[in-house]
Amino acid sequence: MSLRLVLLGPPGAGKGTLAGILEKELGLAHVSTGEIFRDEIRRKTSLGKTVNRFVTSGRLVPDELVVSVMAGQLARRRKGRGLALDGFPRTVGQAKGLEAFLSDRGLALDGAIYLDCPTPLLIARLSGRRVCSRCGSNYHIRTMRPRRSGVCDACGGTLIVRKDDQVNTITKRLVIDRAQATPLLDFYRQHHRLYRVSGSGGAVRVFQRVQRLMQQRGWLKK
Ligand code: AP5
Ligand code: MG
Repeated sequence: MSLRLVLLGPPGAGKGTLAGILEKELGLAHVSTGEIFRDEIRRKTSLGKTVNRFVTSGRLVPDELVVSVMAGQLARRRKGRGLALDGFPRTVGQAKGLEAFLSDRGLALDGAIYLDCPTPLLIARLSGRRVCSRCGSNYHIRTMRPRRSGVCDACGGTLIVRKDDQVNTITKRLVIDRAQATPLLDFYRQHHRLYRVSGSGGAVRVFQRVQRLMQQRGWLKK
């Protein structure tokens, strides 16, 4: 499938969870800026050292750096394979950077899917999230439990709380996101690419809503 999607939504809306299902069910490559940065931080690379203070404190990494990292990532991907971009773009500057990267290659986005979620649900999801310290897989203490408590199903790694999931950092991330969301959504609305989907309910229900949208738009044939 060669569908190219951007997944938008506040922290905890379920972008990563949905992108994981899109990868498994439809073969789209899940590319997450947050995961790329956390992996660089884990490996203590020079990029990891540069982005560490932004990521752990919940502030946005500067646009030029994000766009150049993503351009490098996307250029290395196999042509023709579809994409689910998770957490990128997050500002209008990044959205323009992505448009320029794609149009230089004669490509375009099919859609930007915004996952709508009420704030209390975002906070409940983020404060209960656990992630694998080795492979980055996501869990939740109530809604997505691992088979063995504290242990990753995928690789056996130890589950931990993400540094930016501390209560005060969650609040900060939600405030920062709100400031960026309005102009970013306006950008995709003006380009007729914005689709809003409810992110409430279980992960399978959210995926089914997205699948319905894909059927309506004829994207499943791509
Ligand atoms: P990033 O990793 O992208 O974090 P985020 O946008 O804050 O989003 P989250 O990963 O917290 O939430 P999500 O929507 O993916 O939800 P998830 O599926 O995990 O970015 C981290 C940091 O990196 C940023 O703060 C910034 O510093 C930097 N960064 C990244 N991209 C950047 C960019 N483009 N520009 C600048 N800086 C950038 O779900 C959350 C929890 O809920 C999980 O526990 C999950 O199991 C559970 N859950 C999810 N969906 C459901 C469901 N439907 N039902 C029940 N439980 C669910
Ligand atoms: Mg995520």
